Amino acid sequence: MKPLVVGNWKMNGTESEASALAREIRKRLKTIKGVEIVLAPPFTALTAVREVIRRSRLRMGAQDVHWEMEGAFTGEISPKMLREAGCGFVIIGHSERRRLFDESDPTVAKKVFAALRAGLRPILCVGETWEERRKGKTAQIIARQLRGALKGVGKSAIEKIEFAYEPVWAIGTGRNATADQVSEVHRWIRELLRAPAGDKRAERCRILYGGSVRPDNAGELAGVTEVNGLLVGGASLKAEDFLSIIRCFARNNK
Ligand code: PGA
Repeated sequence: MKPLVVGNWKMNGTESEASALAREIRKRLKTIKGVEIVLAPPFTALTAVREVIRRSRLRMGAQDVHWEMEGAFTGEISPKMLREAGCGFVIIGHSERRRLFDESDPTVAKKVFAALRAGLRPILCVGETWEERRKGKTAQIIARQLRGALKGVGKSAIEKIEFAYEPVWAIGTGRNATADQVSEVHRWIRELLRAPAGDKRAERCRILYGGSVRPDNAGELAGVTEVNGLLVGGASLKAEDFLSIIRCFARNNK
């Protein structure tokens, strides 16, 4: 399975700043092989970044999407718009969306369904809060979020989804989950995918880890057997850091 590394730039980067960052990443990428790489800039920088990464191995994703293709939804961006802007991927259900913008499991499900229908690969985020982990509820929360998001998604479409385990307490806190914690939750996720996807397809799904990934811990996280890639926030804003994280997966480096 080819590893996937996603850079989630969040609300960082004007059009010109985002282009400069993408250019820097593209320039230094040459020697890295065997990893799929997705940049997720803010909406306003999508078309500029598309031009920078044209004819390169870099792919692009958006950070959110609406579930309708068009209509009276002031302020929203549709899957069809993202496709034309050059996106192949879209992050859905990020914990910042769930917590700060009240996104519920049914909303996440509608977005996943609409993205798939438009030919976008959803990067579906799930993860527990510290309080939930402390109370021993991690497995329950992950199961609820996954089942909720996959409602209505057909067996074969599940394979088109990239799954990301992102413990809320690890995002932007400098405190990443340990290799054991990550491996345990990733195994649960794969088990949970068996019923809706079937065994073979469940085996083929990529499960990424995200939450305070940095150059100094990426090697250990990438080394966890159950980790098929990383979703990187803060550290993806510096080309050098992002590339050293990607290098942890590169074939020529193993
Ligand atoms: P972080 O963010 O790497 O800055 O912790 C990860 C994410 O939100 O996807």
